[in-house]
Amino acid sequence: MTTKLKVSLDRLAKFVPAEEIAALAPLMDRCNKTLHKGDGKGNDFLGWINLPSSITKEHLADIKACADDLRAKSEVVVVIGIGGSYLGAKAVMEALNPTFGAFDSRKGNPLVLFAGHNLSEDYMAELLSFIENRSVSLIVISKSGTTTEPAIAFRILRDLMEKRYGRKEAASRIVAVTDGSRGALRTLCDNEGYKSYIIPDNVGGRFSVLTPVGLLPLAVAGVDIEALVDGAAQMERQTGVEVPFEDNIAMQYAAARYALYTRLGKKVELMVSFEPKLQYMAEWWKQLYGESEGKEGKGIMPHSVVFTTDLHSMGQYIQEGERIMFETVISVGAPTGKVTIESDQSNLDGLNFLAGKRLFEVNRMAELGTMLAHIDGGVPNIAISIDSINAQTIGMLIYMFEKAVGISGYAIEVNPFDQPGVEAYKKNMFALLDKPGYEEEGKKLRERIGNK
Ligand code: PA5
Repeated sequence: MTTKLKVSLDRLAKFVPAEEIAALAPLMDRCNKTLHKGDGKGNDFLGWINLPSSITKEHLADIKACADDLRAKSEVVVVIGIGGSYLGAKAVMEALNPTFGAFDSRKGNPLVLFAGHNLSEDYMAELLSFIENRSVSLIVISKSGTTTEPAIAFRILRDLMEKRYGRKEAASRIVAVTDGSRGALRTLCDNEGYKSYIIPDNVGGRFSVLTPVGLLPLAVAGVDIEALVDGAAQMERQTGVEVPFEDNIAMQYAAARYALYTRLGKKVELMVSFEPKLQYMAEWWKQLYGESEGKEGKGIMPHSVVFTTDLHSMGQYIQEGERIMFETVISVGAPTGKVTIESDQSNLDGLNFLAGKRLFEVNRMAELGTMLAHIDGGVPNIAISIDSINAQTIGMLIYMFEKAVGISGYAIEVNPFDQPGVEAYKKNMFALLDKPGYEEEGKKLRERIGNK
């Protein structure tokens, strides 16, 4: 059993007796078995379960070769995608790459920028202006190949590429990640001869970070994708059906959440970290949990904060506001860098009591102090710890969260692998934009808003 990633429920004791959580073991076990047997809801989308252990060295080598080619010819690689086709790569990149790497031209890595994850004209105009005199390649990612935001971004950026490089060279600078046979992006790939990777049919967007959806942009950004996949594969083994509840941290995490939701009525889960590098891991987790559980009027609402920053904004509410939440804290055992606070002769700031201490120790005490205060304020706390932020532990976290959300979804009896609610805004947007086929709906909506 590895000690690189642990889940501790000790700090829940004041709220839910350990025996109550342990009593959920049979339910969690049943849900885990349902996932592995593939006879539950949404069983067309279980390809992620054995994905880490089935990724071959050859597949990783091919992705790295493609990434090296893009790296060699580009100052900027723009990754186009939204939701599950964006957040995984963004999260892992932010966690593993130097925080100020993007501003450091000495590193020799291409700058990886994102597009197609919003419809902001200012964002696009500024991106176009930024890449104007820089060599560029594109990675366009869309499982369906029809999602509006990335499709618009790709149309604009492809046009720029073709005007700048000519159609043939532009095609050599574009790599697509999409469905194997369906969708407009697949047709474009076939027509234009783009290199492409396939997103397996049985892996949904929010579970796709360990497919080329995440791995290709991450390889371009210089992330060690072998170690990432290796970490996930370790967690796949450690959360399998043969691993009992006492050793199975995905089941334990799912059980704790279930108990807090069903027994205590805690409806909000705050993902907390004291490391800003993990901010986007929480964004990725929010999509994973929000889309998987939030349906049929059920599900814990995922929310996130980065402390100590957000203690100065959300701290008040968490300490004394509505008691609707619990926290899940990702603690990091050791930093990668080293900064020590020195003694100061004048001691005008009164901080000499910290002289000789690492900044990390101060952060650690802030974390402990905060958790104790929040527990006293009625906010239960699940503790997840990793020994450090590295590709392996991030891979472990990814798989642990994926496994736990599958179990959690089945425990509250929803289909954790669909997202029917995402369609509602799209229908209205298309109707308001006069998309052919939406005329009637458009008329009704305009009447509703006073024909504006
Ligand atoms: O989880 C999901 O399925 C969604 O968030 C999708 O990832 C997102 O809508 C993007 O879809 P696509 O990859 O088809 O463009």
